[in-house]
Amino acid sequence: MNVLNPKASCPYSRDGAQNSPPPHVAGGQNVSFTTDSYEETFVLGLSLGKTLKKGGVVALEGPLGAGKTCLCSGICYALGVDEPVTSPTYTIIHEYEGRFPVYHIDAYRLSGPEDFEGAGGVEALYGGGVCLVEWAERVSASLPPSAVHVKIAISDAGKREIHISGSTGLRTEN
Ligand SMILES: Nc1ncnc2c1ncn2[C@@H]1O[C@H](COP(=O)(O)OP(=O)(O)O)[C@@H](O)[C@H]1O
Ligand SMILES: [Mg+2]
Repeated sequence: MNVLNPKASCPYSRDGAQNSPPPHVAGGQNVSFTTDSYEETFVLGLSLGKTLKKGGVVALEGPLGAGKTCLCSGICYALGVDEPVTSPTYTIIHEYEGRFPVYHIDAYRLSGPEDFEGAGGVEALYGGGVCLVEWAERVSASLPPSAVHVKIAISDAGKREIHISGSTGLRTEN
C-alpha cells in the first residue's frame, strides 16, 4: 500500500457495501483484533471509520510506532479524506476535509485539560465532525463518555493487538 496515497492502492472500497473490507468482528462493546501489517491495521481503521457519525470521537492509546496514525489514516479514508494523513505532532491538530470535517489531534505534548482547550481541542471535539485523538490518555478528562477507545499494543515484530471499546457497530456479517 502506498501509505501517502491510499486511494491509489487500497484494495477496498470506502463507498457502499460493494467490495467492503472483510467483516471486523463482533459482540458488543469490546472487540479485539490482531493485525499483521500496516495494511491490515489501515483496513481495520477503514471498517471502524465506516461506523462513525458526525460528533464521533476516537481516543487512541499505544506507544510510539504502535500504529495509531496508521489506524487514523484508514478512518480518514473511510470518511472521504483524500489527502495523506500524517502525525500532527508539531501542529497538535490537523483538520481534514472529508464528507465532514475530520480533526486529528496528537496530544503527546499536551499536559492536561487546559492545554487541550488552549490548542483548540474543544472546538475539534464539538466541531460538527469526527475527532481522532492520539495519546488520548494525556487528555482523558476532556473526552466525552461517548468516545470509542482504541488501545494498541505491539506484540511480535509486525503484530499489533488492537482492543476497541465503546459503541462502534463493528460486527460480523451474521
Ligand atoms: N501490524 C501493524 N500495524 C500498523 N503498523 C505497523 C504494523 N506492523 C508494523 N507497523 C509499522 O509501525 C509503524 C506505525 O506507525 P504509526 O502509525 O505512525 O504509529 P503511531 O502513530 O502509533 O506512533 C509504521 O512504521 C508501520 O509500518
Ligand atoms: Mg502517530
